[in-house]
Amino acid sequence: MTNSTAQNILVCVAWPYANGPRHIGHVAGFGVPSDVFARYQRMVGNNVLMVSGTDEHGTPLLVQADKEGVTVKELADRYNRQIVEDLAGLGLSYDLFTRTTTRNHYAVVQELFKGLYANGYMIKETTHGAISPSTGRTLPDRYIEGTCPICGAKDARGDQCDNCGNQLDPFELIEPRSKINGETPEFIETEHFMLDLPALHDALKEWLEGREDWRPNVLKFSLNLLEDMRPRAMTRDIDWGIPIPVEGWEDNASKKLYVWFDAVVGYLSASIEWAARSGNPEAWKTWWQDPESTSFYFMGKDNITFHSQIWPAELLGYAGKGAKGGETHTYGELNLPTEVVSSEFLTMSGSKFSSSKGVVIYVKDFLKEFGPDPLRYFIAVAGPETNDTDFTWDEFVRRINNELANGWGNLVNRTVSMAHKNFGEVPSPGELQDADKSILDLAERTFTEAGEELAAAKFKNAVGKIMHVVGEANAYIADQEPWKLAKEEDQRERLATVLWTALQVVSDCNTMLTPFLPHTAQAVHETLGREGVWAAAPRIDEVVDDAELELVGVGLPEEGQSYPVITGNYREQQAVWARVEVAPGTVLSKPKPLVAKLEPELGQTGPEWAPVQE
Ligand code: MF3
Ligand code: ZN
Repeated sequence: MTNSTAQNILVCVAWPYANGPRHIGHVAGFGVPSDVFARYQRMVGNNVLMVSGTDEHGTPLLVQADKEGVTVKELADRYNRQIVEDLAGLGLSYDLFTRTTTRNHYAVVQELFKGLYANGYMIKETTHGAISPSTGRTLPDRYIEGTCPICGAKDARGDQCDNCGNQLDPFELIEPRSKINGETPEFIETEHFMLDLPALHDALKEWLEGREDWRPNVLKFSLNLLEDMRPRAMTRDIDWGIPIPVEGWEDNASKKLYVWFDAVVGYLSASIEWAARSGNPEAWKTWWQDPESTSFYFMGKDNITFHSQIWPAELLGYAGKGAKGGETHTYGELNLPTEVVSSEFLTMSGSKFSSSKGVVIYVKDFLKEFGPDPLRYFIAVAGPETNDTDFTWDEFVRRINNELANGWGNLVNRTVSMAHKNFGEVPSPGELQDADKSILDLAERTFTEAGEELAAAKFKNAVGKIMHVVGEANAYIADQEPWKLAKEEDQRERLATVLWTALQVVSDCNTMLTPFLPHTAQAVHETLGREGVWAAAPRIDEVVDDAELELVGVGLPEEGQSYPVITGNYREQQAVWARVEVAPGTVLSKPKPLVAKLEPELGQTGPEWAPVQE
């Protein structure tokens, strides 16, 4: 579609670690919200670029590889594939979902590091690295646990505290211990590159103070980070990661860039890869260099620091915009985030979803049993948008049965059934009465009202407004009693008018529910006698890593590896955020049931693969 006022909108979705299949807590944070937003923006005619991929460096991968007894590369390959299937199965409409172990990603990350280094924002410092006193060998961050110096949690890891979400360095832990044998590590001096956050403080502050429309808790948290900004290590004593592109460092196999330095650069590298694969290698610049373009970053709250501080700092320093000045480099001046849209946690009986604690409901199991839209719906109406929220099977069953099946499914089904049975097609309305006009007006108005909520990433408000129309439409049918009109010869025109009105409202609600329920929306589109792609689905392509790039260092990804990506042709879809007139004469067939009702017992027991625990 062409639209002269179309905006360019970059939708950046947090990169899941390739250390296991995704659970519903993950996709509640970054997955469903970002997709609802992207789909809405496409429907209003904006140019969306939505990117992400699997995050494959760092300790989370190494720990899991140890556990499974495989190499980290094998682990990354396996879970990259699994996660691609999980996310595509949910219908998440990435323009490109790639991975961090591509040659392209390595090249873009090294370029960013070199720019920051050249501008003086990467400072070499002597810090403390852990060694095991019993073996004399280095003890990687992932093998160190201790008490969090910030919140006091007893089981903080050397790289991060899961309780408060803060990033840590192992030597900051109180009473550090080795996970291997419980001994107390010794800290020896080691050199690392630190991102000079203090030199970027003022530039960050100025940017952040202009961000008034963020969710209040995200903004507050981010402003707070400005209070105590120290240089942060952007390299690690680790043998898995991107080589440090500095002379004398690149060939050191046991020092690599910090996973969080590289992961956030993924948004840029994925945009560049997308452009190269789409045949116009310059195309990424539209979203990154045009100051009119906007960017929205979606994640769970444990990622805020990296998106509202580390990533903007990297961008500012790369453009030479901190206290040390500097120049622009190959990629020019790049846009900072317009908004960091963070969700809170989805918990289960109070505890954060976590595979390591065994509190886990995998997306793949969920999809197999219920299909994608029930989960999408649940996350949209009952997810952790601004508060930690407990997932219970009981509430899941209630929401799906009462709202999706009895509310929405039933409205579609009975409306189309009656029209099919009495007319075999969309009937021609007679003169509209007040009740007809009023429900039609409500639907029309809701395009504007729910649209404003969606544009502001207020998904619960949006879906609430749309489901209100569904409820009113059901009430309208109950009041008008078309089944009675159908029995009276002289009420044929009134029957036609009521059913035509109801069909129009069904069409409107379906349009507005499309970002939330794309698969169901496609089915309703067909139920309304329409053809072609209404809501596009992502697809999985197998691609080859064959870009010719300059990389330095040891341990680089091999040229020519093949891997799956999620992509799609979303411009082909018909879905537009506006009323589509239902056309009298359109042939209707008998509708199939739209939403399967769940067994009420499921609410008490949970499914076999995730039983409710007493
Ligand atoms: N892998 C990180 C996590 O799961 C998120 C990285 S988001 C990134 O917490 F885009 F910055 F990579
Ligand atoms: Zn903590």
